[in-house]
Amino acid sequence: MVVHFPKRWAFLTTLSFLAAVGVPSAFADSVGAPFSPGRTFAEKTGEALYANLCQACHMGEGQGAVGAGRYPPLARNDSLRANRYPIYVVLHGQKAMPPFGGMLSDDQVAAVVNYVRTHFGNDYKDAATAEDVKQAR
Ligand code: HEC
Repeated sequence: MVVHFPKRWAFLTTLSFLAAVGVPSAFADSVGAPFSPGRTFAEKTGEALYANLCQACHMGEGQGAVGAGRYPPLARNDSLRANRYPIYVVLHGQKAMPPFGGMLSDDQVAAVVNYVRTHFGNDYKDAATAEDVKQAR
């Protein structure tokens, strides 16, 4: 025998189930868009910023990746020689790379740029400053 519940009852049951297991809010938290506008990041060191923001695309050793897209290596990269260029790319994005200017302070941009310019086989000694970043915004 098939029991027919009134439609309204079934609807309320679904609602209370979702409320009980907390699906909508937990889901929204776990998949919250990492680069959504208005988001900011607490990390301060270049290393932590790189790990959280850049590594997914440019990889752990800055080696880049080729697959569904092309993510250029930052390792041993002559384009990082002048700090203006990486500052610009991080602030404003470039093609498939998202802009980070709205999410990072001048200090944070300088920190992550200095990190990639002094790691992964790069050894550029002239550190970028927060002032350099401010002027490139
Ligand atoms: C969503 C993937 C993604 C993320 C995250 C990302 N990048 Fe990129 N990045 C790219 C792509 C794709 C390019 C190539 C853009 C182009 O075609 O000009 C690029 C280019 C660059 C370049 C220029 C390299 C060159 O040789 O011209 C630098 C520097 C760079 N990224 C640094 C960073 C830093 C630092 C971060 C973290 C703050 C970061 N990227 C985060 C995808 C990403």
